[in-house]
Amino acid sequence: MDNATVIVVGSGGREHALCLSLAASPRVSSLHCVPGNAGTAKMATNHACDMSNEPLLDLFREIKADLVVVGPEAPLCEGLADACQSAGIACFGPVAALAHLEGSKLHAKLAMQSAGVPTAAFQRLDATSDIDAALDAYAGQPWVVKRDVLAGGKGVVVTSDRNEAKQFIITSIGSDGFVLLEAFLPGEEASMLVVMDGTGFHTLPPSQDHKRAYDGDRGPNTGGMGAYCPAPVITEQVHERVLKRIVEPMHRHLSGQPVPYRGVLFIGLMIDASGDPFVVEFNVRFGDPECQVTLPLVETDMFDLLHGAATDGLSELPLKIRQGTALTVVLASEGYPSAPVKGRPIRGLEQALETAVYGKTWVNLAGVGVDESGQYIATGGRVLSCSALGVDVKRTKSEAYRLLSEIHLEGAHFRTDIAHRAMQ
Ligand code: AMP
Ligand code: GLY
Repeated sequence: MDNATVIVVGSGGREHALCLSLAASPRVSSLHCVPGNAGTAKMATNHACDMSNEPLLDLFREIKADLVVVGPEAPLCEGLADACQSAGIACFGPVAALAHLEGSKLHAKLAMQSAGVPTAAFQRLDATSDIDAALDAYAGQPWVVKRDVLAGGKGVVVTSDRNEAKQFIITSIGSDGFVLLEAFLPGEEASMLVVMDGTGFHTLPPSQDHKRAYDGDRGPNTGGMGAYCPAPVITEQVHERVLKRIVEPMHRHLSGQPVPYRGVLFIGLMIDASGDPFVVEFNVRFGDPECQVTLPLVETDMFDLLHGAATDGLSELPLKIRQGTALTVVLASEGYPSAPVKGRPIRGLEQALETAVYGKTWVNLAGVGVDESGQYIATGGRVLSCSALGVDVKRTKSEAYRLLSEIHLEGAHFRTDIAHRAMQ
């Protein structure tokens, strides 16, 4: 398809990355974002809209969207892809029944069990369960407790403190009715993004996020403080195992559903010391910030890839991947993740955006707004990330950090050790 009109749903760094990559496609003649952010405004028309399905559909019809690309999980769990399907609009992102792979940890566990996919053993605990006996059964390693709801990153506690685990179990059962206690998986984490539809799938190069707030993987969990791609922990042999043991069975399961999975399946992996992969979690969207470092490595036209997946055309579409490494480092507001300070001016951003070249060194905006005087201000916890693409990790890293050094936000913090596992 040529002269396509595309709309991206969402407002974070991931959606800016999607817009950058779609804007580079000669197939796309009109790019929109809802609600978007100050970054997407540079190459797309942002729309303010009530984010429930009906008003969104009205907007998609009004702009005559040929393709809707849904960034975050919440609208998918709310049935936005189902609504698009009923309206005959191509949508990248799965229908609600399949989005529950992310919306419900229990549903994901049961899907993995039925597909024979390796993951941690678990117990479902409710008000009738003997919590102490369950904690005893998983003693000796940290306890992993997971709520069964979309909790914006706050639904999982991994702790060696028995009392903390017990309290989280009790409060979660109180609010949700039940909770999962899961065996701890030792190893190294990686993220694998698999674009799939009813006819086939493409695995994108594996990446690694940095979830802890501070250097050395210390401090509180965050949405992600930086990422790089590809991640060397996924060797060719590990990749083969991930394909055979996880991706192929999941694709068989998901493509055989009444409406096949059309979108990206994010597989959070733990790779153990023997190189055996286990699934930590599924998400039904691109990771953020994984998306920012994965898409720039995709040489295949981004519209063709996303539209292909939305319309069951993937088996016809070859995937081409660029050589090299992409890296992004997140600049976070003071107080992030617990209580980010918002509203402060971001200096140097205007110039950094002017000199940036997508695919070389560039900025992904997330929590950035513009005040009445036209000054960029921080509006969120994760404010922006500086990204680079190059031949080797070391030089790519120094390019991204050089760009970051030109941008100033009072009190902000960032990690200095993105990609440390690739440097060892
Ligand atoms: P999730 O929301 O399921 O991705 O969990 C958040 C984080 O908790 C993951 O990125 C892991 O670092 C950690 N985690 C979750 N499940 C396990 C597990 N079974 N073993 C070890 N760490 C885990
Ligand atoms: N960066 C992890 C996520 O998007 O869930």
